[in-house]
Amino acid sequence: MDVLTLLSDVLVGSVAKLSATQPRILRIVKPDGTVEAVEVKRLVLEKVVNYLGLMSAVAQELSTPITTLEKLEDSNTQNLYLIADQSMVVGFLKVGRKKLFIIDDYCVQNEVSPLCILDFYVHESRQRQGFGKKIFDFMLQQCKALLLFQNEDVQPQHLAIDRPSIKLLSFLEKYYMLSAKIPQANNFVVFDGFFDCRPDPAKPNTRDRLLWESTSAMSRSPAGSPKLRAKPLMPSGGWTPAPVIPPHIQNAPLNKRGYGTSHGARNQSSLAEILHHDSTGETLKQK
Ligand code: ACO
Repeated sequence: MDVLTLLSDVLVGSVAKLSATQPRILRIVKPDGTVEAVEVKRLVLEKVVNYLGLMSAVAQELSTPITTLEKLEDSNTQNLYLIADQSMVVGFLKVGRKKLFIIDDYCVQNEVSPLCILDFYVHESRQRQGFGKKIFDFMLQQCKALLLFQNEDVQPQHLAIDRPSIKLLSFLEKYYMLSAKIPQANNFVVFDGFFDCRPDPAKPNTRDRLLWESTSAMSRSPAGSPKLRAKPLMPSGGWTPAPVIPPHIQNAPLNKRGYGTSHGARNQSSLAEILHHDSTGETLKQK
């Protein structure tokens, strides 16, 4: 039986949201715009989500899937969006808030809890046909709708991307003009505009901020006016700015995501083998 057609009776041509807080309820937006909440058996959802998670891991050459229904349930904060064509689920996007330390243009570390793109996959047979754009826009709209009453907005440049693949980088540049990265010391990628008009304000690290203030005072012009948006001068001693890309990340072998190896080494063959067998030993058909 083809796992990806298991939801064909409820999800034809639709986009749906699965939330960690209600992991049995699919909130489905039909092609005509009507919204329906449908309760789905856990086993069915588990098969579909875990299979897509496995396909995604294989596509990105990760050693283990980072998306399973169990991981979604355990997260409490993540949301998973599914997209279907006429007969099968063709992709998913997983997002969630994470507390991160993100370096800004001035090398100041900021504590921030951005919405993160954690996993994103469209079936190989449906890539480059607009499904990725449709599900990404759906996610942005959903976030905006949730924040509407606080007069807040979620813009693509406010997102943090967990080790984006080359395909995802190309996707983000094509549709959302995101290309100029602010270098980070972790596996997340953020783009120019990340700190502008954020709905969730960033808290600059006090030590970094004080250093920034003192070094920017050092860079004041003779007339005494600060050079606005000048990068801080290197202090004369005692402080080394956070490394932009540490050597262990620079030198690490790149997986398809291109950034770091936090999910372990490549292990495509074993994942590819699992792809052909579900938990009951039944052979899965790969479209
Ligand atoms: N090579 C290069 N760029 C690609 C490719 C590809 N094979 N496929 C999609 N893209 C980018 C391009 O910018 C493309 O535009 P173009 O065709 O004019 O060059 C654009 O995406 C197409 O947009 P959509 O059709 O809306 O996107 P799609 O449905 O293909 O979904 C996605 C994009 C999810 C990245 C898909 O290609 C995919 O599943 N790739 C494999 C898994 C992967 O890399 N996922 C991202 C992991 S990183 C993370 O999740 C944080």
